[in-house]
Amino acid sequence: MGKNDEFKDGDAKKGANLFKTRCAQCHSVVESEGNKIGPNLHGLFGRQTGQVEGFSYTDANKSKAIEWKEDTLFEYLENPKKYIPGTKMAFGGLKKGKDRNDLITWLREATNK
Ligand code: HEC
Repeated sequence: MGKNDEFKDGDAKKGANLFKTRCAQCHSVVESEGNKIGPNLHGLFGRQTGQVEGFSYTDANKSKAIEWKEDTLFEYLENPKKYIPGTKMAFGGLKKGKDRNDLITWLREATNK
């Protein structure tokens, strides 16, 4: 594991923009907006996989049974289908570590409001 293989604090402003362009068509971070194509991400940090009420997850996502936090998101978002084989999340991944750092830095605040 080198320096580029783990989460580091990034630029939340850039992260907000990445969310808008890469994630927001399927996810909201605002609790009252509920689920879209993907589950609502409000309160994501510290939660186990597959816990949002009323969202129909795959067994693969539910049974991954890890806690969502900086380092698990860092690995997942690089290649979701590798981290959770069988997931129905149709997203190829953010290959640049810097993009993942920026996005996760923003998500940590935005999912906790
Ligand atoms: C095309 C729609 C789509 C896009 C784009 C997308 N997702 Fe998802 N996401 C989903 C779906 C559907 C699931 C549920 C997967 C399952 O049940 O297998 C999911 C699951 C997740 C989960 C797991 C949630 C949980 O409660 O276990 C996280 C975290 C997540 N997405 C974050 C993101 C982020 C961050 C982005 C942008 C980089 C993104 N997603 C882009 C559709 C999408």
